[in-house]
Amino acid sequence: MRPIEIADGIYDVGVKDWNIRDFHGYSTHQGTTYNAFLVMDEKIALIDTVKKEFSDQMLDNIAQIVDPKKIDLVVSNHTEMDHSGGLPRLMHRIGEDKPLYCSKMGAKNLKQHFFPNWNYQPVDNAGELSLGRRTLSFLETRMLHWPDSMFTYLKEDKILFSSDAFGQHYAGPEKFDDEIGDRIMPHAKKYYANILLLYSAKTLKLMEKIAEMRLEFNMICPDHGVLWRKDISKIVDAYLRWSRQEVKNKALVIYDTMWHSTQQMAESIVAGLAESGVYAVPMDLRRSDRSDIMTEVLDARAVVVGSPTLNNQLFPTVSDFLTYMKGLKPKNRIGAAFGSYGWSGEAVRMISEELQTMKFDVVDPGLRIQYVPDAEGLAACEDFGRKIAEAMKA
Ligand code: FEO
Repeated sequence: MRPIEIADGIYDVGVKDWNIRDFHGYSTHQGTTYNAFLVMDEKIALIDTVKKEFSDQMLDNIAQIVDPKKIDLVVSNHTEMDHSGGLPRLMHRIGEDKPLYCSKMGAKNLKQHFFPNWNYQPVDNAGELSLGRRTLSFLETRMLHWPDSMFTYLKEDKILFSSDAFGQHYAGPEKFDDEIGDRIMPHAKKYYANILLLYSAKTLKLMEKIAEMRLEFNMICPDHGVLWRKDISKIVDAYLRWSRQEVKNKALVIYDTMWHSTQQMAESIVAGLAESGVYAVPMDLRRSDRSDIMTEVLDARAVVVGSPTLNNQLFPTVSDFLTYMKGLKPKNRIGAAFGSYGWSGEAVRMISEELQTMKFDVVDPGLRIQYVPDAEGLAACEDFGRKIAEAMKA
């Protein structure tokens, strides 16, 4: 496949990973892409690489435009190996002495991943590098997504190479946002919810800094998914909403169940919430992947979690999800716990404690029902839903 010229003399020489379905625990139902960009100027620059196993494919893509040996310099915006794994093959091919521009932390981290004696050229925040007719400008973006992350901005073309930010795990025939339209937004939302949510404060600060700098964009080119060129404000506005952790009148009732009792409780809680005008959905942890559930958590005001008690503990899937959600640090949430139990019934208390640790506003000590809920028990669940709905109004 011939690389696409995304702007005059600038090519996407990255690859599509059509078949990946698990990206370090994140379900990638439609694969992903590793974008890498070749800038043809008086000096030829390559911005980012791809996962190790796609190195040769990237080199073949480059070779369709120019002999890889003619690349004068490489920019590494981020050390994570989905973008740096191709560096060893690339550097071997183009010459180990070619300059490799990265952040100061990038140099440190790349040395720990790969060859320590490459010609590392750490750049300053706001540092610039002339390619001849064009200028690269570097902007440190620590923790978006690693301490080494940075953006590279092509000043004359007003193109931002944004690394992980604004990306989506999506592989399709489309290259640009206008070719896929709104269908890309759920992928962008899932990416934010599962990769960047815990760095929301930093993301918001960065968005404000970019606004202050009055940077203009003709295109934003992340390292995953489609490139934004038509409706850039759509993804920028979404990032502002997500990084402010704006939530909707929405509740998720997340649960696992052994003999359908906790499931019956979940569905009755949803009924109580819905009757009170809340958009509420039950999510079974064994039917939905944790990363898909987390995507729904992103804009949910209430997160209600249910578990049976198994051997005096939380059900393992519930434990897994709570650990995952805790790491991603959702804020401004109401929480509550529920569950069916047989004799000891510790799970509800354990969930409540976890939600409190996450600084959720826990609106009830939790609802427990022994064995199978009867009509009275299910009515109590509906009341529980109504109580949560009431707290959501505050
Ligand atoms: Fe796509 Fe943080 O790597």
